[in-house]
Amino acid sequence: MNFELTEEQKMIRQAARDYARRELTKDVLERDENAIFPTHHVKALGELGFLGMMTSPEYGGSGMDAVSYVLAIEEIAKIDASLAVIMSVNNSLVNYGLETFGNDFQKDKYLRPLADGTSIGAFLLSEPEAGSDATHQRTTAVDKGDYYLVNGTKNWITNANSASTYIVMAQTHADKGPRGINAFVIEKNTPGISLGPHENKMGMRSSDTHSVMFTDVKIPKENRIGEDGFGFKFAMKLLSGGRIGIASQATGIASGALDLAIKYSQERKAFGTEIFNHQSVAFKLAEMAIKVENAHNLCLKAAWLKDQHKNTDMASAMAKCYAADIAMEVATEAVQIHGGYGYVKEYHVERLMREAKLTQIYEGTSEIQKIVISRALIK
Ligand code: CAA
Repeated sequence: MNFELTEEQKMIRQAARDYARRELTKDVLERDENAIFPTHHVKALGELGFLGMMTSPEYGGSGMDAVSYVLAIEEIAKIDASLAVIMSVNNSLVNYGLETFGNDFQKDKYLRPLADGTSIGAFLLSEPEAGSDATHQRTTAVDKGDYYLVNGTKNWITNANSASTYIVMAQTHADKGPRGINAFVIEKNTPGISLGPHENKMGMRSSDTHSVMFTDVKIPKENRIGEDGFGFKFAMKLLSGGRIGIASQATGIASGALDLAIKYSQERKAFGTEIFNHQSVAFKLAEMAIKVENAHNLCLKAAWLKDQHKNTDMASAMAKCYAADIAMEVATEAVQIHGGYGYVKEYHVERLMREAKLTQIYEGTSEIQKIVISRALIK
């Protein structure tokens, strides 16, 4: 088995690392403190080709593989996980969904600007009463002949304000349950769409999260994605790939926390020596490194399967569950190694700890990943 990255993969990782270290570090604390959306960094990522990484050049994307995508998200998330989630939603939910299942009109009109980074997208599945239980969609899309009429509320929507293109799931045939759900591509500025207030989150504070309300929103028939009733399967297929992005984000957070803890342990002295020389610290760091390596390898395995066009349901759920859980553990240990300094913002590790928590919640909680994995075990 060859664990060596290709030259192209190494170059992409280096480009992401350079950008993150050079540009993101200097204002990440301010963006976290004041919940500022990283507009100019999103633009720069678009110019680097990181907003349409896996989209074909035919539609303005970069045509890179999923392994490169994992490497780039990890590097960005080490410094600024909020930017990594913006990237992840755009790449693996919105762009992938449109390229794989959209019609020619949808690809031409919506995918191109998303893939070249001139606009960004959002994925609207969760609702006030449909989070983990995503089949329970209350938003309706009533078939009115030549258009659909959409009503309802979506919750916790990443990029809700900054996106111009929404992928929205809504129930058309309630009697058919999940088989009655449709997916639509919807322009954010369509009359009848309004946003709730900006959510004041614990972490990932510079990604913008809102609820989105639909009141008698008219959607042309040509904006439905796939066959009538394909919406739930569509969402699940997208999440199978999307979870690779969030797993990579979590791995990046863990890896960033480990780097900071290693550095601090070589600078800070206690009991007459650098704290790294105390086994209580050195062993912690070794355990953290094992976890980061395992998470990284799970992400690469899931990405490799995706690149081979194989099913990623179980691999992406394993990567997402494991990486999110260890991100929380590793970031918490990094704070512990920093002692009192870890508890103040300037040292970054408390922010990484807050960011890690969300990776255990969105794109399916760790418990949801275990449902997906356990079901796959008996297939
Ligand atoms: N691929 C294709 N089809 C799938 C599928 C997959 N991976 N998973 C399920 N389906 C199909 C099933 O085959 C079934 O279809 P049939 O009726 O034709 O057989 C249908 O979907 C319903 O599936 P289940 O019976 O398995 O549904 P369930 O309710 O028992 O469980 C679940 C489904 C896995 C729990 C799912 O609801 C789930 O993943 N929930 C979590 C939702 C989630 O991750 N939300 C994240 C929001 S997006 C986000 O967070 C983005 C962001 O901002 C960062």
